[in-house]
Amino acid sequence: MSGPELILSVSRIEQWLRTSEAQALDALWRRADAVRAATVGNAVHLRGLVEIGNHCIRRCTYCGLNAAHAALERYRMNREQILDVALQIADRGYGTIVIQGGEDPGIEADWLAEIIAEIKQRMPLAVTLSLGERAEAELACWRRAGADRYLLRWETSDADLYRAIHPPGPSWTGTRIELLAVLRRLGYEIGGGVMVGLPGQTWASLARDITLFAELDLDMIGLGPYIPHPDTPLGRGQVELPPIDPADQVPGTDAMTYKVLALARIVCPEANIPATTALATVDPNHGRALALQRGANVIMPDFTPEPYRSQYQIYPGKSSAATTDAGQGIERLIRQLGRTVGIGPGGRQRRSQARA
Ligand code: 5AD
Repeated sequence: MSGPELILSVSRIEQWLRTSEAQALDALWRRADAVRAATVGNAVHLRGLVEIGNHCIRRCTYCGLNAAHAALERYRMNREQILDVALQIADRGYGTIVIQGGEDPGIEADWLAEIIAEIKQRMPLAVTLSLGERAEAELACWRRAGADRYLLRWETSDADLYRAIHPPGPSWTGTRIELLAVLRRLGYEIGGGVMVGLPGQTWASLARDITLFAELDLDMIGLGPYIPHPDTPLGRGQVELPPIDPADQVPGTDAMTYKVLALARIVCPEANIPATTALATVDPNHGRALALQRGANVIMPDFTPEPYRSQYQIYPGKSSAATTDAGQGIERLIRQLGRTVGIGPGGRQRRSQARA
């Protein structure tokens, strides 16, 4: 392989995904780390995450927040609570707040727009939103209020598998890929991504996901292993999936996720790619460090106050992994790895203006 701008075909990516040969993988890690160093550099940007509510109208069959999960206690943070967390994030010197929540019409567009505007006015923070599929007018309203970025993973590019695990929602009838194009047109930096190891996910479809990262020229890429949640239909094995050859099933392991992460960095050299909490959940001792050494350049410590943090249970084990890195330990880890803590908003730098 040569040159950072290496174009990988779907079949070459699939080969990489199927590799478990130690020497080949070592070369992949080194390549991804070199591309990361040459493009986004040594800074690791910290984004303060606040999960503003766990109400959700969708019934995504893998997610603990799905509307059918009656046992889950639901919450919505109020304006003062959100602004209080934003101040904590700014006081810690972070450059970005990530406002995340379930897909919830109870999060009214005008209400949130005022909060976004106030954060932008009072604090030197970039604002990233991650609130599911919302109407174009609402997304435009938040953009006008000052929101900078939007995260919307498409989970899998396999249309049959997507349909099988996602009952449709009311706000947007198109695909998430189409909604990302809308977000791009509105002027957001856009983030997409997938889960690794969804039941029914094949090597070929995951390879296609990785080429889509490049085709969409994503500014941010979120990746994590699928973690079965025992209180969901998919976690209980009750969802009818498109049949695949068992030999084609991608495993939802940390090892697989590192490969996807490294390939994502190679096909999207300039993207901001976090070491995600899901990865730290399946590999608590090494997840953060290995992700940072295999392509990642962002960490999103969780600032959601209790009891809400524990109630934002997308998958089991999430809140304890999130709690470990909200402390100062994460800054220490970054320095131990020979990296620096990023300063400023840390948005996507286009190559023409990227530092060497
Ligand atoms: N395991 C891992 N990740 C999950 N997500 C949702 N449910 C699970 C699960 N069971 C991820 C999805 C979603 C993000 C917020 O969390 O990719 O986009």
